[in-house]
Amino acid sequence: MNPLIALFSSSLGKKFLMAASGAVLALFVLGHMAGNLQVFLDPYYINAYAYKLQHLPYGLLWVVRLVMLTTVVVHIWVSVVLTLENMKARPHDYKVKATVKASYASRTMRVSGVILFLFIIFHIAHFTVRNVPGHEYGEAIKLSNGDVYHAEIVLKKPESQGGAALKTATGEDKIGHDVHTMIIAGFQVWWISAFYVLAVFLLSQHLSHGVSSLFQSLGLRNSGIRKVLDLVAAAYGWVVFLGYASIPAGVLFGLVKVQGILIGG
Ligand code: HEM
Repeated sequence: MNPLIALFSSSLGKKFLMAASGAVLALFVLGHMAGNLQVFLDPYYINAYAYKLQHLPYGLLWVVRLVMLTTVVVHIWVSVVLTLENMKARPHDYKVKATVKASYASRTMRVSGVILFLFIIFHIAHFTVRNVPGHEYGEAIKLSNGDVYHAEIVLKKPESQGGAALKTATGEDKIGHDVHTMIIAGFQVWWISAFYVLAVFLLSQHLSHGVSSLFQSLGLRNSGIRKVLDLVAAAYGWVVFLGYASIPAGVLFGLVKVQGILIGG
């Protein structure tokens, strides 16, 4: 057998793949959260940030997307293989005892993983493809009060910084998608916000358990700093939950205000 295939088929190899793919996803979650929290600033920041990502040079956006997709596939595939192996290896009564011992988070890893996967598909349809039935943000963005806003906007610095429009290499105004208004329109729908809050709660639980397993795989959890590492994992989970959940909450409580271009109502 090819030595590389043999390595990744071994128990150690699979644990490594699970931990490495999980670490990449955990970093993405932090980066994405930091980017999204800009919704609380002047709309310029999140709109210019989205524009930059959409216009990365050399097709880098698609490289990043491909890497992320591969990482998700590896993470899910290895988790399925490991689950099947565990089921085969454990006699029934041992499994029951092991389940009782396992923490709440570890027991729910598979369920939260499946729900998160479904959430990500919904989320990409919602904000990237922008086409959830009854909820489209094509050329215009409709708010719950019937007001309609331009989906595209000239990227202008905040007034406090002179209010100048950003320019392309050929000297034209940069026009970007009004992600700020889109996020408000998305989260004004209470059931969408509720679904996001539930999903990010499951995400936070999934991640805090995942991060502590990662420490274990790295052989760190048996050492004297185990308590500290468990605290780091739990804190990471709560930061992710509060960071992400604050966005739908901020919209529903009126903390994020529409500042786009009104075209009708
Ligand atoms: C309040 C929570 C969130 C907000 C406001 C948000 C916002 C957004 C926006 C605006 C986009 C589209 C970017 C663009 O095309 O310009 C996006 C894409 C995406 N988000 Fe989120 N997101 C949230 C939570 C999450 C979570 C929890 C995950 C994963 C665990 C996630 C994963 C993704 C992925 C994979 C994409 C697709 C990136 C791409 O290829 O374009 N998001 N998000």
